[in-house]
Amino acid sequence: MAEDLSIIQGTKEEQYRTLLPQIKALMEGEPDLIANLANICGALKEQFGWLWVGFYLVKKDELVLGPFQGPVACTRIRKGRGVCGAAWQQGNSLVVPDVEKFPGHIACSSLSKSEIVVPLFSNNVVAGVLDVDSILLKDFDETDKKYLEEIVSWIEG
Ligand code: SME
Repeated sequence: MAEDLSIIQGTKEEQYRTLLPQIKALMEGEPDLIANLANICGALKEQFGWLWVGFYLVKKDELVLGPFQGPVACTRIRKGRGVCGAAWQQGNSLVVPDVEKFPGHIACSSLSKSEIVVPLFSNNVVAGVLDVDSILLKDFDETDKKYLEEIVSWIEG
């Protein structure tokens, strides 16, 4: 397919429904993990304009920064630390409506107000997380959780 996205206005649901098949098409026939993670970040950032969209990958006992779009970010996060480390430890997605109210939140950017973190699994073990930050409070909800989990499931081994 041509490597340009069709970006739409509309409800969040409509935006995801238009975007998901395009992400799927971008990943089709591409086995390289980093290439796919990079395009997922690019597609989500372009459609939604969030502050930061990126992956951290489990390497030994830490999450290490992977492909992302947005401002520079911290490179390593320990298990249980911040929203990312908590999602890793718990093995489930975390929606944080106000990052200042999340104990231990790691502020990579002072502009970030809300956040969602979705773990990605390999052989039923957390292999990384998708982290998305917004400059708006309460920007993420069950719709984001549902669709971001679906996208992440495509890269799980
Ligand atoms: N806020 C995250 C750290 C990563 S940055 O947002 C990119 C956290 O608390 O885990």
